[in-house]
Amino acid sequence: MLPSIEQQLIRSGQEHLLHYWDELDSKSKAKLQEQLETIDFDLFRHLVEVMRNREETTAAPEISPCPFTSLDDPTADWDALKQAGEALIRQGKIGVLTVAGGQGTRLGWSGPKGTFPATPVTGKSLFQIIAEQILFASQKYGVKIPWYIMTSVENDQITRSFLLDNNCFGLDRTDIFIFPQGVVPAVDANGKMLLVEKDQIFMNPDGHGGVIAALKSSGALEEMASRGVEQLAYVQVDNPLVKVVDPTFLGLHCSDQSSGEVSSKCVLKSDPDERVGVFCNRGEATSIIEYSDMTSEQTHEMIDGKLAYCCGSIAAHLFSISFIENVANDLPWHVAHKAVQHVDVSTGDTSVSEEPNAYKFERFVFDLLPLASNSIVLQTKREEEFAPIKNAQGNDSAQTSMKLQRERAVTWLRACGVEVPEDAMVEISATTADSIEDLGKIELPTEILAGEIISI
Ligand code: UTP
Repeated sequence: MLPSIEQQLIRSGQEHLLHYWDELDSKSKAKLQEQLETIDFDLFRHLVEVMRNREETTAAPEISPCPFTSLDDPTADWDALKQAGEALIRQGKIGVLTVAGGQGTRLGWSGPKGTFPATPVTGKSLFQIIAEQILFASQKYGVKIPWYIMTSVENDQITRSFLLDNNCFGLDRTDIFIFPQGVVPAVDANGKMLLVEKDQIFMNPDGHGGVIAALKSSGALEEMASRGVEQLAYVQVDNPLVKVVDPTFLGLHCSDQSSGEVSSKCVLKSDPDERVGVFCNRGEATSIIEYSDMTSEQTHEMIDGKLAYCCGSIAAHLFSISFIENVANDLPWHVAHKAVQHVDVSTGDTSVSEEPNAYKFERFVFDLLPLASNSIVLQTKREEEFAPIKNAQGNDSAQTSMKLQRERAVTWLRACGVEVPEDAMVEISATTADSIEDLGKIELPTEILAGEIISI
């Protein structure tokens, strides 16, 4: 073992990780040493402090409703904002950032979630939906729009192969930048790291908020700067209705109403108990609070006959690169108490307790919001932009998402004068149109037949 690592282990009270060292063969020794070399011990000591100082309070969080701008606001000059956004896109100022490192536990899909077949007629994958929107926007605006994808250590290779095997869905591979998110050790109640095997420490991905540090450490920020990209459109991988490149949103974000650092989209919550992050103010700062952290009174509070906390997050944001550069290491860590199977060094047995025994650390991307000086929340139309796939069945499943995707396609086609019977199954490809306006410019059938299954 390298003396420098041994010293770090002593300084951090983690000597137990070498408990089995003498009985390991050379391959296992190399494996453990390699893993230890990747650990940032300064960060680790900070995480232990975070765990020790965590507050387990049941007091109501101090929040108040936050202002938002609605697309229905007739006083705003939406056309001018859209034109301003389009000009920025044409100048190559925008890149797309997708976080795709999640484990997709609820969906239960064996591969990376981005490979999940998500559209109702052609079964296009979640990655393809995003790629085709980027392709369409690149062609429409005559500009390269780079795509930054955060993977995890586990799904990085398979994600790269999936994109290459599918010819990057028409995008130039040099315009795609893939980087894995970081991992961090979990600890027990005594601040000790856990061994999953005698030669392996338990580490977990650092959350979607890990993307901010990973953008910096991977060199992606420098790559963006070299292209002249100034703003990033952040989208999660699992919302097939997401509007990846949205000029109106970009125009608003870069207008004088905002500091141009972070802007976010929300939709009206479908019901007060909908399980989405909720926009609120903490002090003066715009924030997102997890639905599970609000009290029932807050969740159901009404003001003037309207839900006080009505803005549900769809996890679509715009970030300026300069802002991200400045705050890369400022996101707070969240602690979750979970059951982790590990080798108990006092007995040598593997603990398979179902009871929480470990504190895991994660960062959340929405913690960027309060760091911005003037952050805008744009309320957009749920039926146009939100159909997440989170669960294998029931709410927010592929089934509910495909129904919503079909409904939006039907709305667009009918708005363009096409007759669509109730039992027709339709899909509009992201390479065909990104709006009713664009759909209206192409030749469409005058009607779709009863029972027809068609992709346009
Ligand atoms: P979710 O919080 O919905 O998690 O991720 P998930 O991993 O997809 O699904 P569950 O909770 O295990 O069922 C929201 C977005 O954040 C990304 C996901 O890939 C998804 O696009 N994410 C999440 C990361 O990139 N890294 C993470 O550590 C967590």
